[in-house]
Amino acid sequence: MSARPLRSVVVLSGAGLSADSGLPTFRGAGGLWEGQRIEDVATPEAWARDPARVWRFYQLRRAALREAQPNAAHVALARLQRELAALRVACLLATQNVDDLLEKAGAEPVHVHGSLAHLRCERCGRVVRDLEHVEPDVAVSCAGCSAPRLRPDVVWFGEVPREMPRVEDAIRAASHFVAIGTSGQVWPVAGWLALARACGAATIVQALDEPENLQPGDVFRAGRAADVVPGLVDELLAAR
Ligand code: APR
Repeated sequence: MSARPLRSVVVLSGAGLSADSGLPTFRGAGGLWEGQRIEDVATPEAWARDPARVWRFYQLRRAALREAQPNAAHVALARLQRELAALRVACLLATQNVDDLLEKAGAEPVHVHGSLAHLRCERCGRVVRDLEHVEPDVAVSCAGCSAPRLRPDVVWFGEVPREMPRVEDAIRAASHFVAIGTSGQVWPVAGWLALARACGAATIVQALDEPENLQPGDVFRAGRAADVVPGLVDELLAAR
């Protein structure tokens, strides 16, 4: 890792972070998009066309989420955030993941692609945390306005990720940018590694496979997040 002193850090995570907790990634062997067309289950158009089919897809994932537990990588990132906060060093954990495993590990992430543990009413805008109702074919109505069907509070393809200005401001000010378990294929988030590089941050990438947006100047740490991230966190804390 670069010898640069750690002044502020942004950690971007993707599905690979939660793979060791038994949650499938999207691309690659056994990924969610294997045998499932994005257009059929993860777009506003699919929701308008066939809400029951989209709902079933997300209900199965929400049911699996209830059982999932954080792994050593989630726990290490929570420690990083906690210890840097005590040192008054900025640390932003931005995640593309819609699972709540970082929260279960005690961290406070920014969910740029929304949350599977939450449902949203498209009529009144109400958002509720709900992992109770996970029956695949039973819709959940809105307790606020009685709209018959809440939608998963996730960002679908064609929708704008959340908190982009906040994350990009943090990247511009960061001395270190770490990308964990993401294939670097989905924009605009995939552009954050290049933004960090352009702003002079030390860029560290951790994943099982080299992501598409990796560049020679980036430090690449191959392996499973649960095995590699705890050591990476020790190095970041030592770079203080
Ligand atoms: N540890 C670390 N990295 C892993 C592991 C693991 N155990 N298992 C897989 N990976 C890596 C793979 O090498 C790959 O680079 O995680 C990455 C997973 O890539 P994707 O499945 O494409 O997931 P992600 O990058 O998070 O997808 C981005 O796409 O489908 C949309 O909205 C969805 O947020 C998601 C976005």
